[in-house]
Amino acid sequence: MTIQWFPGHMAKARRQVTEKIKLIDIVFELVDARVPMSSRNPMIDEIISSKPRIVLLNKADMADDYLTKQWIQYFKEKQIPALAIDSQTGTGLKQIVTLSRELLKEKFDRLASRGVKPRAIRALIIGIPNVGKSTLINRLAGKNITKTADRPGVTTAQQWVKVGKELELLDTPGILWPKFEDQLVGLKLATTGAIKDSILNLQEITVFALNFLKENYPERLKDRYHLEEIPEEVVSLFDEIGKKRGCIMSGGYIDYDKTSELIIREIRNEKLGRLTFENPSQYKENNH
Ligand code: G4P
Repeated sequence: MTIQWFPGHMAKARRQVTEKIKLIDIVFELVDARVPMSSRNPMIDEIISSKPRIVLLNKADMADDYLTKQWIQYFKEKQIPALAIDSQTGTGLKQIVTLSRELLKEKFDRLASRGVKPRAIRALIIGIPNVGKSTLINRLAGKNITKTADRPGVTTAQQWVKVGKELELLDTPGILWPKFEDQLVGLKLATTGAIKDSILNLQEITVFALNFLKENYPERLKDRYHLEEIPEEVVSLFDEIGKKRGCIMSGGYIDYDKTSELIIREIRNEKLGRLTFENPSQYKENNH
């Protein structure tokens, strides 16, 4: 789903999410485990405010396991419980209910002591487009219930979806915008496929991705493209991959568009293995 975010839409989206938050006990903030920071809304802490929250590192099946564990630790240090999940297969989803119950135990005990009848925990899934919100709702509900998630500006009636006896979800997730004014965020989201019809130039995305791989996963790059050594200059690396894969135009020139498409497709299809594009140590230093 592509949403054009304009200031009016952003304000409306924020209002819609704020209204929904009033109805629930806990927020499930969905992020992409491959880009846990870039796939968050820049104002999320302010929007969620004091509501209990669990950060769900979705698509963990595609992310680097070692870094996913580091990210869970990063959030823990910020007093935000986090879980790694794969909404497509359902891996890790059981823990969501268990952890929610733990986090809300005091609140529910308090309610019970005042004679309020026990009820299911009410939750809202929040995240930027393409992070897997609909997939998660459908997976938790065990059936295909999500209509197209509500777009900023369109109001639909709220409905609750039952997840076992203990949890109820709002059927339309909260959609918020990424920090797209930051170009690096855009490049990371485009590389992972969160932004599809990218406004960014494909070759630019590929240069970013190759530089990243060169720095962080050089062996994978060598293995995948049968490189003896990785050239210093990213342009030479681009050329070499283009040549090896036959992305050549008439006259013998490298077809950079075709090479870019191939590299980006292979990254998204995990041909270079499970990749995470952000390391929590960078964010700790910057005190984010
Ligand atoms: P949204 O509601 O937040 O916008 O996201 P949605 O559920 O539509 O999911 C976006 C894409 O991400 C979907 O792929 C979905 O199958 C995939 N996805 C969601 N959760 C997971 C996960 O845990 N692991 C993996 N590997 N994929 C997940 P799609 O519709 O086929 O689009 P695409 O594959 O062309 O990107």
